Amino acid sequence: MSLLHGKVAVITGAASGMGLASAEAFVEHGAKVVLADIQDERGAAAAAHLGDSALFVRTDVTSAAQVESVVSVAVDTFGRLDVMFSNAGAAVDLSPIDDLTPAGLDRTLALNLQAHVAAHKYAARQFRAQGSPGSIITTASVAALQAGWNGAAYSMAKAAWLALVRQTAMENQGTGIRSNAILPGAVLTSIITDMFGVGRDREDEFLTGIGDRIGGETLIGRAGQARDIANAALFLASDLSAWITGVALPVDGGATAVTKDATVSLITEFATEFHTGS
Ligand SMILES: NC(=O)c1ccc[n+]([C@@H]2O[C@H](COP(=O)([O-])OP(=O)(O)OC[C@H]3O[C@@H](n4cnc5c(N)ncnc54)[C@H](O)[C@@H]3O)[C@@H](O)[C@H]2O)c1
Repeated sequence: MSLLHGKVAVITGAASGMGLASAEAFVEHGAKVVLADIQDERGAAAAAHLGDSALFVRTDVTSAAQVESVVSVAVDTFGRLDVMFSNAGAAVDLSPIDDLTPAGLDRTLALNLQAHVAAHKYAARQFRAQGSPGSIITTASVAALQAGWNGAAYSMAKAAWLALVRQTAMENQGTGIRSNAILPGAVLTSIITDMFGVGRDREDEFLTGIGDRIGGETLIGRAGQARDIANAALFLASDLSAWITGVALPVDGGATAVTKDATVSLITEFATEFHTGS
């Protein structure tokens, strides 16, 4: 099956993790893909591995001009743009609100919010210029829904995306231009290794250990893999999702479908004691 035959996509943060897995999935399904990232070596190697259907373009997404430029490169190279997967992100500043400085908040928002506003803006402009439909996908996070997954600044940025995708969906109504967010749970990628200062040489060992520890916290019984997110992105990029816009899709093994705290068991325990008088 070739879900993206003839489509052209830009994927940001494509040198690693979910972005890389998505680039692989998109090319497998017939797309031409521009991989945009700041990791030159990994990005270029990934594009070379994917062959003629892929191109790496060094892009710092915190620069709106570079986001605009990578859209132009995609159009100049492959003739059009059909999918913008705005995925690059990092924790940046993990401070609790008490210690969060304006500068730390600004740096976090520059990568985790401003960059995505630029991606939405320039992708939608290109779709309108082509007079074609198009799909914009963003990687938000379950941190948009629940506190405790990541730092305050990151969580606030990811929550703002929910408004960004809905607003973009509304402002482009009637055009076939769609905007949807994926909300990953804990997925075993470099972002976790980076957050805990583990070097690339021990990344596999570290992520395997984390996966063993947290797998049981999901309803599916395992931690997420980059390909789990890529599969969701593939669906949202394809025409199979043509009637889906303005939604935030948790892809988290069911982690946010159930309460993690003990409130319900405490209530049940109290009710039992209440009835038995113990
Ligand atoms: N892994 C998780 O558990 C998890 C959970 C929820 C959300 N997310 C989100 O998923 C997305 C992908 O992260 P991942 O888990 O694949 O991590 P990753 O670290 O493997 O990939 C992130 C990529 O973004 C790139 N990047 C960082 N800053 C950039 C910049 N200024 N310009 C261009 N590229 C830049 C990095 O070089 C890297 O290749 C991020 O937005 C992240 O916040 C991850």
